[in-house]
Amino acid sequence: MEFDIYDWFFLALYVSYRVIPVTNTRKIMEFTLKHNAPEKSRCGCQIVTVSQPRKLSTAGKSLDKASKGYLGAVLKRGDMEGKTGQTLLLGPVPGLAAQRVLLVGCGKDSEMNERVYTRIVGSIASALGASGACDAEFYPGDIKIKGRDLAWKIRHAALLLANSEYRYDRTRSGKRETPKGLRKLAANIDRGDAAAARTALAQASATSAGMSLTRDLGNLPANICTPTYLAREARALAKDYKKLRVKVLEEADMKRLKMGSLLSVSAGSRQPAKLISFEYRGADARQQPIALVGKGVTFDTGGISLKPGLAMDEMKFDMCGAASVFGTMKTVCELDLPINVVGLVPATENMPGGLATKPGDVVTSMSGQTIEILNTDAEGRLILCDALTYAGRFKPRCVIDIATLTGAVIVALGKIPSGIMGNDRKLIDDLIKCGQQTEDKIWELPLWDEYQDQLKSNFADMANIGGRDAGTITAACFLSRFAKEYKWAHLDIAGTAWKSGEDKGATGRPVPLLVQYILNQVGK
Ligand code: BES
Ligand code: MN
Ligand code: ZN
Repeated sequence: MEFDIYDWFFLALYVSYRVIPVTNTRKIMEFTLKHNAPEKSRCGCQIVTVSQPRKLSTAGKSLDKASKGYLGAVLKRGDMEGKTGQTLLLGPVPGLAAQRVLLVGCGKDSEMNERVYTRIVGSIASALGASGACDAEFYPGDIKIKGRDLAWKIRHAALLLANSEYRYDRTRSGKRETPKGLRKLAANIDRGDAAAARTALAQASATSAGMSLTRDLGNLPANICTPTYLAREARALAKDYKKLRVKVLEEADMKRLKMGSLLSVSAGSRQPAKLISFEYRGADARQQPIALVGKGVTFDTGGISLKPGLAMDEMKFDMCGAASVFGTMKTVCELDLPINVVGLVPATENMPGGLATKPGDVVTSMSGQTIEILNTDAEGRLILCDALTYAGRFKPRCVIDIATLTGAVIVALGKIPSGIMGNDRKLIDDLIKCGQQTEDKIWELPLWDEYQDQLKSNFADMANIGGRDAGTITAACFLSRFAKEYKWAHLDIAGTAWKSGEDKGATGRPVPLLVQYILNQVGK
């Protein structure tokens, strides 16, 4: 075989792509378990919670005893009330083997809940990050949250801390230095709880790995993160895990499958669309898979119905649904779960251009239903509908689509929960429960038949927009017409997938929610 100059060029191009891994390889905080007596522990810092008014936790009391009342005296002096988030770092305390003690306020016992706990973990992270301590020890058993067991507290804290360490530096010239800070955090718990705690830690670490991938893909600019790039990343992911297979459908395949709706969105783009499918096989082939379908618009200009310029850069995040499918697949692989999961990602740009779809154009979807495209900026539903039809081929036990679909969901719900709608009560309820379990919240909007009327068209089976009212619901109404064959839920993550402003960046949501749902389905 002979190599000519072009071969070398493409080889060099390929190598340069492959040597830059998308995920962070920086060493992240190590989370461990301990079972020894608090006063004997030789760590950099003992973390002691104080509830209001000035009440030491159980571990705090034994440390106080060993220090002959040192901690009690600090509280008496009035230096630590115990207000939520308040912290006080003490130097070496006589009688204790640890180098420091960090007192952390957690408010009144009666007011302790998931949100307060999240705040406390945050204050611990920032107080220790600013200190010289490399390792620390805390006592999750001392914090009582109604309805939450030790495993929950450990998983939640570990995931929060791992996420707070995430840095995006893929497109910076000099890598930012890793903050010194804490390298090791141990949860000091009873020996009998160790097995459950270990599982919780494994879940947290796998979820954080998945979320980092989701955030990296989301944060990458659209000139790098194209549909082709996503397809390449998918193949790279499948190389890492034996149970994961990836197939990529090209535009010619989509034409063959009559995906006229998906192709109408990529028509205006120089970048070819891709339909990426992941198949994770962790269980018997006969077991029906859970299918995840993620909107992968790598940049949404609006097309001929061009968007206004303000904050248009944020439309690089319009593939965050797709990125959450990547991240969830990675977490499932890391945990080696005994379940089958399919991931489908229709990936395309939405661009104006000479060949772009025009308002009023009518296209035929893979399902055979025709669509009048009244607004080319309502493109998410146009690519999802064909992916949903395609999902039917996998005979899924349920299908969950994840999409940054409507600005209207932010008007309705703000940026706290994702919106959920669907055609199956139990699936929706199960997902809402997972949202509460993970603090990755979702809220249901009514998908009533009455709204379907808004999609009437004079020229096709349906229009792709339903007017100003209830934009999030009419988008879901549109999708529901392609999800009749199975149990289906739709997550509108336009308000939750990324943050704007100073903290601009992908959040990694709703990976925790999706992972929890899959975990809860294992063995069912
Ligand atoms: N990707 C956008 C939705 C979006 C907009 C998410 C702003 C986050 C912030 C989607 O493709 C879109 O443009 N939706 C339109 C729908 C409308 C034309 C019916 C919207 O929300 O304005
Ligand atoms: Mn759009
Ligand atoms: Zn979009």
